[in-house]
Amino acid sequence: MRLLNINTTKTRQVLSSSMMALVLSLTMTSGHTAADISQTYNDSCAACHDSGALNAIKKGDSAQWQRLIKQKGMPALINSVKGGMIQMPAGGLCNNCSDDDYQKLIEYMSK
Ligand code: HEC
Repeated sequence: MRLLNINTTKTRQVLSSSMMALVLSLTMTSGHTAADISQTYNDSCAACHDSGALNAIKKGDSAQWQRLIKQKGMPALINSVKGGMIQMPAGGLCNNCSDDDYQKLIEYMSK
């Protein structure tokens, strides 16, 4: 009986730690990972920002991106994408991007 008790405690511990792992992995998959960001970039932003179509600042044009980030600030840039600009459609063709995703996309393009 004593042995059984120890076993159930142990089972409970194992169970709760695997629950923790599940919760952790769920919260981690809800945010976009680095691989997702490059995928999202390719799906949404690349159409214009890869080639500089419509005068969009090109991905990898660090100097220009850094200047813009310094000049306007990241929150303003995120708002520009969300609201759209003269040539850029609102959301930049991404339907499910969060502010955090936009920030990561902008940082991704500025490298
Ligand atoms: C249809 C073309 C197009 C797509 C798609 C697009 N952009 Fe743009 N983007 C532009 C153009 C063009 C500009 C320059 C401003 C203007 O003329 O609209 C711009 C400007 C920007 C700016 C600078 C904003 C500012 O305040 O100066 C940011 C940041 C940006 N884009 C991010 C993104 C992100 C992130 C995505 C993908 C989620 C994206 N863009 C998708 C065309 C596009």
